[in-house]
Amino acid sequence: MARIALVTGGSRGIGAAISKRLKSEGYEVAATYAGNDDAAAAFTAETGIKTYKWNVASYEDSAAGIAKVEADLGPIDVVVANAGITRDAPFHKMTPEQWHQVVDTNLTGVFNTVHPIWPGMRERKFGRVIVISSINGQKGQFAQVNYAATKAGDLGIVKSLAQEGARAGITANAICPGYIATEMVMAVPEKVRESIIGQIPTGRLGEPDEIARCVSFLASDEAGFINGSTISANGGQFFV
Ligand code: CAA
Repeated sequence: MARIALVTGGSRGIGAAISKRLKSEGYEVAATYAGNDDAAAAFTAETGIKTYKWNVASYEDSAAGIAKVEADLGPIDVVVANAGITRDAPFHKMTPEQWHQVVDTNLTGVFNTVHPIWPGMRERKFGRVIVISSINGQKGQFAQVNYAATKAGDLGIVKSLAQEGARAGITANAICPGYIATEMVMAVPEKVRESIIGQIPTGRLGEPDEIARCVSFLASDEAGFINGSTISANGGQFFV
C-alpha cells in the first residue's frame, strides 16, 4: 500500500516540488495551502494531487484538516512541515505584528502540524517528520530577526522529537535550504538578491527540486538511522 504524505504549503514553491516528487515516487500526497485558491486549483489540475485549505497557525484548524486528510487517504506516514512566510524588516522597524505572524505560522505552525499526527505514528511504529528550516536559521539574516528565530527553532524541534520518537520508529529531521528560486526569494529587492547570489559559491539560486530530493531521501526506509539531523542544501553559502 502507498505511504501517505502530508506537505504543508504544498501547492507552491518548494512545497509544490516536494509534493510532486513524493507523488512521482509512489506516495499518496495531500498538500495544504493557506489562501491562494487559484494556485491550489491549478496545482491540482496539473498534478492530480489533492489540496486542503487551512491555516497552520491555528491548532484547531490543523487538527480538523489532518483528521479530514486521514479520513480521505488513511493514516499519515510522512509529514513535511514546509509552510512558511516572511515579514522582513530591519529590527528597529519590525512590529510586534510582524513578529507574531511569522512565529505563529513558521514555528507554532510546525507544532500544530506535527502534534495531531504524532500519536498515530507512535502507535503504528513508523513515521517521518521533515521540517523545512532555512540557511537563515543557521546564520541569521539582515531584516529577518523573526524568520531566523523560527528557523533556528525548527532545529531544536527536530532534535527533541528525534529523541522522543526514535524507539517508536519515527525520525525527525530538518532541511536548511539556501536561497532557492521561488516567489519568496524573487520578492527580495533585485539589488539585494544579486548581492546574495554573489555570496553563493555555486553562483546560482537553488532549484526547488534540489530540496525535494532531500525530502524524498529522508522519507525513505533507508534513512532510518538519520534522526535529529540537518541537511544543508545551499550551494556552499553556509561555508563562506
Ligand atoms: N544586508 C545588508 N544590508 C541590507 C540587506 C542585507 N541583506 N538588505 C537591505 N539592506 C540595506 C539596504 O541596502 C538599506 O541600506 P541603505 O539605507 O544604505 O540603502 C538598508 O539596509 C535598509 O533600508 P531601509 O531602512 O529603507 O529598509 P526597509 O525598511 O525599506 O526594508 C528590506 C527593506 C525589507 C530590508 C529589504 O531590503 C529586503 O527585503 N531585504 C532582503 C532581506 C532578505 O534577505 N530576506 C530573505 C528573504 S528569502 C528567504 O527568507 C528564504 C530563505 O529561507 C533563504
